[in-house]
Amino acid sequence: MNIAIILAAGSGVRFSTGTPKQFITLGGKPLFCHSVEAFEKHPDIDKILIVTLERYIQKTQTICEKHSYDKVIDVIAGGATRQASSYEAMQYLQYVIGQNDIVLIHDAARPLLPQSVISEHLALAQKYPGVITTIPCTDTVCESNDGALLSKNLERRVLYQAQTPQSFRFGDLWQAHQEARNNHHTVTDDAQLLVEKHLPVAMAKGDVHLLKVTTQEDLTLIRQWLKEMGKRS
Ligand code: CTP
Ligand code: MG
Repeated sequence: MNIAIILAAGSGVRFSTGTPKQFITLGGKPLFCHSVEAFEKHPDIDKILIVTLERYIQKTQTICEKHSYDKVIDVIAGGATRQASSYEAMQYLQYVIGQNDIVLIHDAARPLLPQSVISEHLALAQKYPGVITTIPCTDTVCESNDGALLSKNLERRVLYQAQTPQSFRFGDLWQAHQEARNNHHTVTDDAQLLVEKHLPVAMAKGDVHLLKVTTQEDLTLIRQWLKEMGKRS
């Protein structure tokens, strides 16, 4: 079984509007609906679990009913960090799915998710315990220790930008999450938990359009891309 988890429990501090960015209207519907629909449409995805802010659970359920999403099994409350939200999803799913089932964790804030990315994930997840989505870095990335003076430039050839989805065998990820929690260990994404346990994480090919809405400028770009995609199809 393949289960998509949509992480939509952030408050969008860097986006800075009253409404969390995942509920802002994009192309006539709330932004998170685009990710949900990408998984609804994919023939090999069986179920979808949405993780959101406690005060948005009711609203999210109503939106899902209105759009007649039939793979959405539940809408649950997330935690204070992305890691905690992902943990909540795992905790819920331990009674619902098996150790060898595949979970695909996706940021609700990345609305333009191509079907081909989901397909590549499902293929790689048969062979590897983890799969991440990446695109090669095009800019040179540099490091500064004090925020004022350059320390060094990093070797671009080996650098990638991480996107989502990130996919895992449920058993491996749930165990890694529990260990991290017991050790008060914090990470920025789920793939890091597996890498630290020396489990191989494969890289699926991402897409420039799979940009995460972080600032207002990102949303302006995504609106424009969506319009162009609409004209082409
Ligand atoms: N997320 C989550 N639970 C959290 C924090 C983030 O489910 N406690 C989700 C967000 O809703 C988003 C994704 O993780 O879809 C990526 O996080 P990010 O872009 O950092 O979103 P926010 O945390 O909402 O934004 P900011 O960091 O600017 O506050
Ligand atoms: Mg955040």
